Order: sequence, then C-alpha cells, then structure tokens
Amino acid sequence: MTEISTVARLAEPLKFAYWVPNVSGGLVVSTIEQRTGWDFDYNKKLAQIAENSGFEYALTQTRYAASYGADKQHEATSFSLALLAATERLKVIAAVHPGMWHPGVLAKFIITADHISNGRAAVNIVSGWLKAEFENFGLEWLEHDERYVRTEEFIKVLRGLWTEQEYSQSGKYYNITDFTLNPAPVDVPGRAHPEIFFGGNSTAAQATAGRVADWYFSNGKDLEGFKENIAGVVAAAGETQRGTEGALSAPKFGLNGFVIARDSEKEARETLREIVAKAHKPAVQGFRDAVQEAGASTKDGKGMWADSSFEDLVQYNDGFKTQLIGTPEQIAERIVSYKKIGVNLFLTGYLHFQEEVAAFGQDILPIVRELEADLARKNGLELDLSGTPVAQQVAA
Ligand SMILES: Cc1cc2nc3c(=O)[nH]c(=O)nc-3n(C[C@H](O)[C@H](O)[C@H](O)COP(=O)(O)O)c2cc1C
Repeated sequence: MTEISTVARLAEPLKFAYWVPNVSGGLVVSTIEQRTGWDFDYNKKLAQIAENSGFEYALTQTRYAASYGADKQHEATSFSLALLAATERLKVIAAVHPGMWHPGVLAKFIITADHISNGRAAVNIVSGWLKAEFENFGLEWLEHDERYVRTEEFIKVLRGLWTEQEYSQSGKYYNITDFTLNPAPVDVPGRAHPEIFFGGNSTAAQATAGRVADWYFSNGKDLEGFKENIAGVVAAAGETQRGTEGALSAPKFGLNGFVIARDSEKEARETLREIVAKAHKPAVQGFRDAVQEAGASTKDGKGMWADSSFEDLVQYNDGFKTQLIGTPEQIAERIVSYKKIGVNLFLTGYLHFQEEVAAFGQDILPIVRELEADLARKNGLELDLSGTPVAQQVAA
C-alpha cells in the first residue's frame, strides 16, 4: 500500500459521525422498538447531543420515495442546513444525487450553507441505485458505470467552482464557462473547500472516489472486506498522483457500523437476534430486489449489497457486518482494529439515537482514545487530540 497507511496516520485521532435519521422507521427494517424520531425537533436535539458527545460529523440521507420501510422522508440539503443552524461545531454532510442536481446550483447552495454555519457544510455525493426515483421523476436512469462517469464530472465542477475564478469545464454531462461564484466558501484552515464525501462500493465507485473524492464512504464491512476497498481506492488515487505536493490530498476512509453496546456481549448479541427476528420481511425483500441496480448489475458483480444476506440487509447499509456489537470495551477494540488497516472515520447508527449517541460519547469514546494513545506510543508517536471534539457531560 502507498503512503496513505503509513505509521504517521496513527497520531491522528479517529473521527466519528452519525446517520441523521431524516427518514422514518429508524435505521433497521424491523418492528423492534426504536426510540428514534425522524422529525426535526428530535433531530435538532440529537445534533446538539452529538456535538457535545465527541461527534464531529452528521450525515443526512437523500431519499425522495419510500424504500426499505422509510415511507416518509425529509429532504437532505434543507434538513442539513437547519441542523447546521441549530448547532455550533457539528459539520453536517448533505447527501446529493448528481442526476437530481446541476453541480453549479449545488455549489452555490453549499457556499451559502457554509457561510451560515461558519465553514461547517459538506456533501456526500451518491450516484444512486433506486431506479424508480429517477424514472418516475422523468429523469434519465444511466447504466451503473455510466453513473460514475457523470459523478466524476460533477465532483470536478464542484471543486472547480469552489476553488477557482472564471472556471471552465467541458465534458459529456456538464459544460461550465468562465464561471465565478461569489462569495467563495469560507476560508477554513486546513480545508481547501467544503469537504466532498462519496458513497459506493463497486469497482467503478472505488476508482471514481480514488480519483476525485476527499472521503471514501463504505457500507459496513469486515476487516478483510474493507482492506480490499481501501486497496481499490488507493490504486486509483496513486494513478492520479494524489497525496503528492500540489495535487489533491490523499483520500480518507469512512466506514459504516451499527452500534449495539450493552453491559454484556450476550445481551448485545441477543438484541441483534431480536432485530433480525422481528425484521419487516416484505420491506427487506423489496429493498433486496431494488438494490440489484447497484453493484450486482456490473460486469464483475462487485459492489454495495452484492454479497449481503437477508440478515445483513435488515440494516440497509450493511451495518452489522462491521460488528460493533458487544460491551463498550469490545466495541472500542474493534474500532481501533479498523484504524490499524486505514479507517479514519466511523459512521454510526443506533436503535435509540439520542440515548445511544450520548452513551457512545461517555462509555466507548474514552476507551477508544486510550487505545489509540497506546497504539501511537507503540509506534513512537503521540496521539494529537488538539482540534478533536471531546465528550462533555450530557443528559439525553
Ligand atoms: C455512507 C453511504 C451513504 C449513502 N447514502 C445514500 C443516500 O442517502 N441515498 C442514496 O440513494 N444512496 C446512498 N448511498 C448509496 C450510493 O449512492 C450507491 O448507490 C451505492 O453505494 C451503490 O453503489 P455501487 O453499486 O457502486 O456499490 C450511500 C452509500 C454509502 C456508502
């Protein structure tokens, strides 16, 4: 592997994000009790709890039509902006589909959000898998790998308009001529522009992320599975000379995981069994059929959900595969084992968001930091916690 996984990275603390529950039904497609609301008031309080619990980011979902039991949805960019306005330090990542937006309109929207939030706006570019959402809107549904051709152009337009004056780009999907967006995004030290996250698992997704994204986000994976993804992204990044002077900085890696922290491992495993036993079978099956448009439709058959079992799909971003299930100590150890292979950020989901985000900050995060400090020391480094949010005493 290249310099991306060098020892120096071990001095950088892991970052934590949570899924914004801006769609109904919680994060698992199950009738098990989920004390999670999808309305704004619930989410506003959750965001405030999260930023006081050591979380640096929140990620919204973009969904226009019902799927996986989420029959009501709040729009991602407006919801993200409202959460930014309701918080002080949290960075909010708005999910967007290139096929639904013109990149210039989105670039302008995010600049305004960035000014309102003093430099905390970010995007997650998702290429899409729910065919009906596009077709029933009368939009073209591109074939799988072609979606990534458009996505790559889209990201280049965003970055160009955020960093250059009189920007021009001509391509297959977008033609921009001598465009200057005023104002520019907020000037934040260490950040070239609002961060560009990117979600996808297929070969085309990894290659695109490697070439143009700041952050590569993956569905839940075991250690071996995520090593493969990292290798795919790093290989594409290497071809573009990223991470070398004057070029785009090296890509960073975020991984989804569903957290079930309980006093004993037995209790945590029992909760997982209950989630799966109470799965909403028709909704999971319907989701399984719809996601055939994702990686499974490609030549090599690799990609998101391509190798997921029924049980995996009950958490619709494969969050059980990461195995953040057990006591706080076990979960912290598991998290740090992923850091060793190159993960920079964990994207987390829960049954009872407000309560469990607060508990994560109080019970798990301190152990993670201790383990990270040990790991750094063993490699002759010191964990640099300056600039990292710390958990405060919060009441859920
Ligand atoms: C962390 C993460 C978040 C995602 N969020 C969304 C979303 O909000 N809406 C959506 O339609 N797809 C979302 N996706 C799915 C991707 O857009 C893409 O369709 C999916 O990864 C399948 O890609 P693949 O077939 O290239 O693996 C997300 C993916 C990841 C990993």
